[in-house]
Amino acid sequence: PVIYAITPTYKRPVQRAELTRLSNTFRLINNFHWIIVEDSEMKTSLVANLLFRSHLNYTHLAIGTPVEWKRKLKEPKWKKPRGVKQRNKALEWLRNNKANENDEGIVYFADDDNTYSVDLFNEIRKVKGVGVWPVGLVGGLLVEKPLINSKGKVIGWNSAWRPERPFPVDMAGFAINLKLLRNHSNAEFSWDVSRGYQESAILSQVTTIDQLEPLADNCTKVYVWHTRTEEPILKAEEKLKNRGLRSDMNIEV
Ligand code: UGA
Ligand code: MN
Repeated sequence: PVIYAITPTYKRPVQRAELTRLSNTFRLINNFHWIIVEDSEMKTSLVANLLFRSHLNYTHLAIGTPVEWKRKLKEPKWKKPRGVKQRNKALEWLRNNKANENDEGIVYFADDDNTYSVDLFNEIRKVKGVGVWPVGLVGGLLVEKPLINSKGKVIGWNSAWRPERPFPVDMAGFAINLKLLRNHSNAEFSWDVSRGYQESAILSQVTTIDQLEPLADNCTKVYVWHTRTEEPILKAEEKLKNRGLRSDMNIEV
Protein backbone atom coordinates (compact mmCIF):
# COMPACT_ATOMS: atom_id res chain seq x y z
CA PRO A 1 0.00 0.00 0.00
CA VAL A 2 0.91 3.62 -0.54
CA ILE A 3 1.20 5.88 2.48
CA TYR A 4 -0.70 9.12 1.92
CA ALA A 5 0.47 11.79 4.34
CA ILE A 6 -1.93 14.72 4.56
CA THR A 7 -0.31 17.96 5.70
CA PRO A 8 -2.24 21.20 6.20
CA THR A 9 0.14 24.15 6.14
CA TYR A 10 -0.01 27.93 6.34
CA LYS A 11 2.24 30.88 5.60
CA ARG A 12 4.48 32.00 8.45
CA PRO A 13 8.21 32.66 8.97
CA VAL A 14 9.04 29.02 9.85
CA GLN A 15 6.95 27.42 7.10
CA ARG A 16 9.74 26.54 4.71
CA ALA A 17 11.92 25.20 7.52
CA GLU A 18 9.06 22.98 8.73
CA LEU A 19 8.26 21.63 5.29
CA THR A 20 11.94 21.04 4.56
CA ARG A 21 12.30 18.95 7.72
CA LEU A 22 9.27 16.91 6.72
CA SER A 23 10.31 16.47 3.12
CA ASN A 24 13.76 15.26 4.16
CA THR A 25 12.15 12.55 6.28
CA PHE A 26 9.60 11.63 3.64
CA ARG A 27 12.32 11.22 1.01
CA LEU A 28 13.49 8.19 2.97
CA ILE A 29 10.11 6.46 2.64
CA ASN A 30 9.17 4.20 -0.28
CA ASN A 31 5.66 4.11 -1.71
CA PHE A 32 4.88 7.47 -0.30
CA HIS A 33 2.60 10.25 -1.51
CA TRP A 34 2.48 13.66 0.15
CA ILE A 35 -0.80 15.56 -0.02
CA ILE A 36 -0.02 19.06 1.05
CA VAL A 37 -2.93 21.47 1.46
CA GLU A 38 -2.22 25.14 1.90
CA ASP A 39 -4.48 27.20 4.11
CA SER A 40 -4.89 29.90 1.47
CA GLU A 41 -7.05 30.70 -1.52
CA MET A 42 -4.15 30.18 -3.89
CA LYS A 43 -1.18 27.85 -4.01
CA THR A 44 2.02 29.71 -3.20
CA SER A 45 5.26 29.50 -5.13
CA LEU A 46 7.16 28.83 -1.89
CA VAL A 47 5.33 25.54 -1.40
CA ALA A 48 5.27 24.72 -5.12
CA ASN A 49 9.04 25.21 -5.35
CA LEU A 50 9.70 23.11 -2.28
CA LEU A 51 7.56 20.25 -3.57
CA PHE A 52 9.06 20.40 -7.02
CA ARG A 53 12.59 20.19 -5.61
CA SER A 54 11.68 17.45 -3.12
CA HIS A 55 11.60 14.55 -5.66
CA LEU A 56 8.58 13.21 -3.77
CA ASN A 57 5.29 11.99 -5.20
CA TYR A 58 2.94 14.75 -4.22
CA THR A 59 -0.36 16.50 -4.72
CA HIS A 60 -0.48 20.22 -4.07
CA LEU A 61 -3.85 21.65 -3.06
CA ALA A 62 -5.08 24.88 -1.49
CA ILE A 63 -8.20 25.94 0.32
CA GLY A 64 -8.60 28.86 2.68
CA THR A 65 -10.08 28.69 6.16
CA PRO A 66 -13.29 30.76 6.22
CA VAL A 67 -12.76 34.15 7.97
CA GLU A 68 -15.04 33.29 10.89
CA TRP A 69 -12.75 30.32 11.68
CA LYS A 70 -9.44 32.08 11.09
CA ARG A 71 -7.42 32.92 14.15
CA LYS A 72 -7.51 36.65 14.89
CA LEU A 73 -4.26 38.48 15.60
CA LYS A 74 -3.29 37.90 19.27
CA GLU A 75 -6.01 35.28 19.74
CA PRO A 76 -4.61 32.12 21.39
CA LYS A 77 -4.18 29.43 18.74
CA TRP A 78 -6.21 26.82 20.59
CA LYS A 79 -9.37 28.95 20.33
CA LYS A 80 -10.13 27.66 16.85
CA PRO A 81 -9.67 24.25 15.26
CA ARG A 82 -6.87 24.09 12.70
CA GLY A 83 -6.57 22.23 9.42
CA VAL A 84 -10.25 21.27 9.15
CA LYS A 85 -10.97 22.47 5.60
CA GLN A 86 -7.54 21.44 4.44
CA ARG A 87 -7.74 17.83 5.66
CA ASN A 88 -11.26 17.52 4.23
CA LYS A 89 -10.03 18.76 0.87
CA ALA A 90 -7.34 16.07 0.89
CA LEU A 91 -9.90 13.39 1.81
CA GLU A 92 -12.08 14.55 -1.06
CA TRP A 93 -9.09 14.33 -3.41
CA LEU A 94 -8.39 10.79 -2.25
CA ARG A 95 -12.00 9.68 -2.67
CA ASN A 96 -12.12 11.17 -6.17
CA ASN A 97 -8.71 10.03 -7.37
CA LYS A 98 -8.10 6.80 -5.47
CA ALA A 99 -11.66 5.50 -5.61
CA ASN A 100 -10.74 2.08 -6.98
CA GLU A 101 -10.43 -0.72 -4.45
CA ASN A 102 -7.18 -1.74 -6.13
CA ASP A 103 -5.73 1.55 -4.94
CA GLU A 104 -4.43 0.32 -1.62
CA GLY A 105 -3.43 3.07 0.72
CA ILE A 106 -3.13 4.23 4.29
CA VAL A 107 -3.86 7.78 5.31
CA TYR A 108 -1.84 9.61 7.93
CA PHE A 109 -2.45 13.18 9.11
CA ALA A 110 1.07 14.59 9.29
CA ASP A 111 0.98 18.14 10.67
CA ASP A 112 3.86 20.29 9.52
CA ASP A 113 5.33 21.04 12.94
CA ASN A 114 5.78 17.51 14.32
CA THR A 115 8.91 15.35 14.17
CA TYR A 116 8.62 11.97 12.44
CA SER A 117 10.95 9.01 12.66
CA VAL A 118 11.45 6.91 9.55
CA ASP A 119 10.43 3.93 11.74
CA LEU A 120 6.93 5.36 12.08
CA PHE A 121 6.24 4.64 8.42
CA ASN A 122 7.07 0.95 8.78
CA GLU A 123 4.29 0.86 11.38
CA ILE A 124 1.83 2.88 9.31
CA ARG A 125 2.35 0.47 6.42
CA LYS A 126 0.86 -2.36 8.56
CA VAL A 127 -2.48 -0.66 9.17
CA LYS A 128 -5.45 -2.75 8.01
CA GLY A 129 -8.18 -0.58 9.54
CA VAL A 130 -7.03 1.95 12.08
CA GLY A 131 -3.62 1.74 13.73
CA VAL A 132 -2.56 3.58 16.89
CA TRP A 133 0.76 4.24 18.68
CA PRO A 134 2.34 6.51 21.28
CA VAL A 135 3.03 10.19 20.60
CA GLY A 136 5.81 12.01 22.44
CA LEU A 137 5.53 15.46 24.05
CA VAL A 138 1.80 15.96 23.83
CA GLY A 139 -1.19 16.62 26.05
CA GLY A 140 1.00 17.72 28.96
CA LEU A 141 2.83 14.39 29.10
CA LEU A 142 6.20 13.15 27.91
CA VAL A 143 4.30 10.40 26.12
CA GLU A 144 0.62 9.89 25.47
CA LYS A 145 -0.07 6.28 24.57
CA PRO A 146 -2.72 3.63 24.10
CA LEU A 147 -3.10 1.17 26.99
CA ILE A 148 -2.97 -2.45 25.89
CA ASN A 149 -4.40 -5.43 27.77
CA SER A 150 -2.84 -8.89 28.00
CA LYS A 151 -4.71 -9.95 24.86
CA GLY A 152 -3.08 -7.17 22.86
CA LYS A 153 -6.25 -5.05 22.66
CA VAL A 154 -6.45 -1.30 23.13
CA ILE A 155 -8.46 -0.55 26.27
CA GLY A 156 -7.89 3.20 26.51
CA TRP A 157 -5.16 5.83 26.70
CA ASN A 158 -3.04 7.26 29.49
CA SER A 159 -4.10 10.76 28.40
CA ALA A 160 -4.20 13.51 31.02
CA TRP A 161 -5.76 16.25 28.89
CA ARG A 162 -9.51 15.79 28.40
CA PRO A 163 -9.28 12.02 28.99
CA GLU A 164 -13.08 11.83 28.64
CA ARG A 165 -12.79 12.24 24.87
CA PRO A 166 -14.01 9.14 22.98
CA PHE A 167 -10.49 8.84 21.47
CA PRO A 168 -8.15 10.91 23.67
CA VAL A 169 -5.36 10.85 21.11
CA ASP A 170 -3.45 13.40 19.03
CA MET A 171 -3.73 13.56 15.25
CA ALA A 172 -0.19 12.15 15.01
CA GLY A 173 -1.14 9.00 16.93
CA PHE A 174 -3.17 7.07 14.35
CA ALA A 175 -3.54 6.19 10.67
CA ILE A 176 -6.57 5.01 8.73
CA ASN A 177 -6.71 2.55 5.86
CA LEU A 178 -8.02 4.22 2.71
CA LYS A 179 -10.53 1.40 2.36
CA LEU A 180 -12.31 2.59 5.53
CA LEU A 181 -12.41 6.15 4.27
CA ARG A 182 -13.96 4.94 1.02
CA ASN A 183 -16.52 2.80 2.90
CA HIS A 184 -17.42 5.71 5.16
CA SER A 185 -17.69 8.22 2.38
CA ASN A 186 -19.03 11.01 4.61
CA ALA A 187 -16.37 10.76 7.30
CA GLU A 188 -14.69 14.12 7.62
CA PHE A 189 -13.46 16.82 10.01
CA SER A 190 -15.86 19.45 11.32
CA TRP A 191 -15.86 22.90 12.97
CA ASP A 192 -18.74 21.74 15.05
CA VAL A 193 -16.73 19.91 17.74
CA SER A 194 -15.25 21.17 20.99
CA ARG A 195 -11.57 21.81 21.48
CA GLY A 196 -9.51 18.66 21.14
CA TYR A 197 -12.30 16.61 19.59
CA GLN A 198 -11.13 16.63 15.94
CA GLU A 199 -9.41 13.28 16.33
CA SER A 200 -12.40 11.74 18.13
CA ALA A 201 -14.74 13.14 15.49
CA ILE A 202 -13.01 11.46 12.56
CA LEU A 203 -12.19 8.23 14.39
CA SER A 204 -15.70 7.63 15.72
CA GLN A 205 -16.97 7.84 12.14
CA VAL A 206 -14.77 4.97 10.97
CA THR A 207 -13.95 2.70 13.91
CA THR A 208 -14.46 1.67 17.53
CA ILE A 209 -11.87 1.22 20.27
CA ASP A 210 -12.03 -2.60 20.15
CA GLN A 211 -11.07 -2.58 16.45
CA LEU A 212 -7.90 -0.51 16.90
CA GLU A 213 -4.57 -2.08 15.93
CA PRO A 214 -1.82 -1.28 18.44
CA LEU A 215 1.50 -0.76 16.64
CA ALA A 216 5.05 0.33 17.50
CA ASP A 217 5.86 -2.85 19.45
CA ASN A 218 2.53 -2.99 21.24
CA CYS A 219 2.72 0.76 21.83
CA THR A 220 6.03 0.61 23.67
CA LYS A 221 7.96 2.78 21.19
CA VAL A 222 7.82 6.48 20.38
CA TYR A 223 8.30 7.27 16.69
CA VAL A 224 6.59 10.66 16.49
CA TRP A 225 6.81 13.81 18.61
CA HIS A 226 4.39 16.72 18.84
CA THR A 227 7.31 19.13 18.87
CA ARG A 228 5.82 22.52 17.86
CA THR A 229 8.39 24.96 16.56
CA GLU A 230 8.91 28.13 18.54
CA GLU A 231 7.82 31.31 16.83
CA PRO A 232 10.92 33.34 15.99
CA ILE A 233 11.34 36.85 17.36
CA LEU A 234 11.78 39.18 14.40
CA LYS A 235 12.15 42.57 16.05
CA ALA A 236 14.93 43.78 13.78
CA GLU A 237 12.92 42.65 10.76
CA GLU A 238 9.99 44.77 11.97
CA LYS A 239 12.30 47.78 12.19
CA LEU A 240 13.47 47.14 8.63
CA LYS A 241 9.86 46.85 7.52
CA ASN A 242 9.02 50.23 9.04
CA ARG A 243 11.74 51.69 6.81
CA GLY A 244 10.34 49.90 3.77
CA LEU A 245 13.14 47.34 3.81
CA ARG A 246 13.37 43.58 4.40
CA SER A 247 16.15 41.01 4.83
CA ASP A 248 14.51 38.48 2.51
CA MET A 249 14.56 40.60 -0.62
CA ASN A 250 15.18 38.22 -3.56
CA ILE A 251 15.83 35.27 -1.26
CA GLU A 252 13.37 32.59 -0.20
CA VAL A 253 13.61 31.84 3.55
C1 UGA B 1 -3.33 19.94 17.79
C2 UGA B 1 -3.30 18.68 16.93
O1 UGA B 1 -1.98 18.16 16.90
C3 UGA B 1 -3.76 19.06 15.51
O2 UGA B 1 -3.66 17.96 14.65
C4 UGA B 1 -5.19 19.59 15.57
O3 UGA B 1 -5.60 20.03 14.29
C5 UGA B 1 -5.24 20.78 16.51
O4 UGA B 1 -4.67 20.47 17.80
C6 UGA B 1 -6.69 21.21 16.65
O5 UGA B 1 -7.30 20.89 17.67
O6 UGA B 1 -7.23 21.78 15.69
P1 UGA B 1 -1.54 22.02 17.31
O7 UGA B 1 -0.12 21.68 17.35
O8 UGA B 1 -2.10 22.87 18.40
O9 UGA B 1 -2.41 20.76 17.11
O10 UGA B 1 -1.96 22.70 15.88
P2 UGA B 1 -1.04 23.20 14.69
O11 UGA B 1 0.13 22.33 14.51
O12 UGA B 1 -0.84 24.66 14.86
O13 UGA B 1 -2.03 22.99 13.44
C7 UGA B 1 -2.29 21.72 12.89
C8 UGA B 1 -2.02 21.76 11.38
O14 UGA B 1 -2.85 22.74 10.76
C9 UGA B 1 -0.57 22.11 11.05
O15 UGA B 1 -0.12 21.29 10.00
C10 UGA B 1 -0.65 23.57 10.63
O16 UGA B 1 0.31 23.95 9.68
C11 UGA B 1 -2.06 23.67 10.05
N1 UGA B 1 -2.65 25.02 10.21
C12 UGA B 1 -2.57 25.68 11.40
C13 UGA B 1 -3.28 25.62 9.14
O17 UGA B 1 -3.36 25.03 8.04
N2 UGA B 1 -3.83 26.88 9.30
C14 UGA B 1 -3.74 27.56 10.48
O18 UGA B 1 -4.24 28.73 10.56
C15 UGA B 1 -3.10 26.94 11.56
MN1 MN C 1 1.11 21.04 15.83
